[in-house]
Amino acid sequence: KKIVLAYSGGLDTSCIIPWLKENYPGAEVIAACADVGQPDDFEAIEKKAIKSGASKAYIMDIKKEFMEDYVWPCVKADAVYEGKYLLGTSFARPLISKKLVEIAKKEGADAIAHGATGKGNDQVRFELTVKALAPEIKLIAPWRIWDLKSREDEIKYAEAHNVPVDYKSEENPYPYSMDWNIWHLSHEGDDLENPANAPKDMVYMVTTQPEKAPDTPEYVELTFEKGIPVAVNGKKMDALELITTLNAIGAKNGIGIVDLVENRLVGLKSRGIYENPGGAIIMYAHRELEYLTLDRATYHFKEHVANKYAELVYDGMWFSPLREALAAFVDETQKTCSGTVKLKLYKGNIISAGSSSPYSLYSEEYVTFGEDDVYDQKDAGGFINLFGLPLTMRALMMQKNEKK
Ligand code: ARG
Ligand code: SIN
Repeated sequence: KKIVLAYSGGLDTSCIIPWLKENYPGAEVIAACADVGQPDDFEAIEKKAIKSGASKAYIMDIKKEFMEDYVWPCVKADAVYEGKYLLGTSFARPLISKKLVEIAKKEGADAIAHGATGKGNDQVRFELTVKALAPEIKLIAPWRIWDLKSREDEIKYAEAHNVPVDYKSEENPYPYSMDWNIWHLSHEGDDLENPANAPKDMVYMVTTQPEKAPDTPEYVELTFEKGIPVAVNGKKMDALELITTLNAIGAKNGIGIVDLVENRLVGLKSRGIYENPGGAIIMYAHRELEYLTLDRATYHFKEHVANKYAELVYDGMWFSPLREALAAFVDETQKTCSGTVKLKLYKGNIISAGSSSPYSLYSEEYVTFGEDDVYDQKDAGGFINLFGLPLTMRALMMQKNEKK
């Protein structure tokens, strides 16, 4: 019996290694750690997995695939959950799970285990992905079954099972549950659990707080091709360089802090602080370009699609027929989403500073208040008569009934 474990190197998933071996006697645990851009020491993580009892450890650099195949589709879709959350954790989970499935198949493993709790969204995302890609693989979620109730329990368990405990980091005054990747950093728990509390200054690990940001605005220009950003300030960049560059520029100017009480899929509300400086810039710029390139009907329909798309991604339904069908619609709309967008960044604010596209549907010639010879204002009278006909008919009916 072999079990592939989604391993982070933290205390939780380190305890899971001996726990699995104890509870599934004879099982071999293969630890798989995904590098999605979190600033970790992956060599140390690999060593820790083996010391904790894993028979093998995989470190998977999936940053490029993450950006190109998971982040970009959501940018094109303008997918934002509940108006604020840029889905940084949500869209990393299906990719990590897909990699776990690949390893499980290669290793001939029969189960996949993860360290998500029974109260959250992540368990759903991990497990739905496995169900969609390899329904024959069993799922193990230790958090839903074991009786380790606290950090202290875990440390005791770790000490009793030869799991290295990093006491320094256990004493770390930073008390939040974090999820970090190249697109975002999330913070949940501790005093943030009371939504009446303002986040403490120490929460922020990426972004300069707006009041401490530079006093002069910084301009940044993004170039898009078919809905995907490809250059910053005229310099062509691949996805990784681009997000890294924009994260740095955004963080410096206090951009991309989100504070949200969101609806988890499991029915609970939870409060999270998100830092996504580069992401905020990209999402804003992308919408700016669509204002130019999408016609009214498509734009309005796409707004509905964006909400549904975000909900599907949040709910772990990445590998679902509906998400795939909506992605095809989105791609169709992005054929003309190319051009440049200039933004002014200033103390946490993103301010539009002009955009242009060869596919712009905006016509100065037609819209001008000055004279033109392409738009006959007389046509508008007939248009309003017919467009307003239902209103006229209803008003006439009501007048007739009032007279009775
Ligand atoms: N609430 C966010 C989401 O559901 C972030 C979750 C963060 N996950 C974590 N394991 N700390 O997508
Ligand atoms: C967890 O419960 O494991 C983290 C939070 C979430 O998944 O929503």
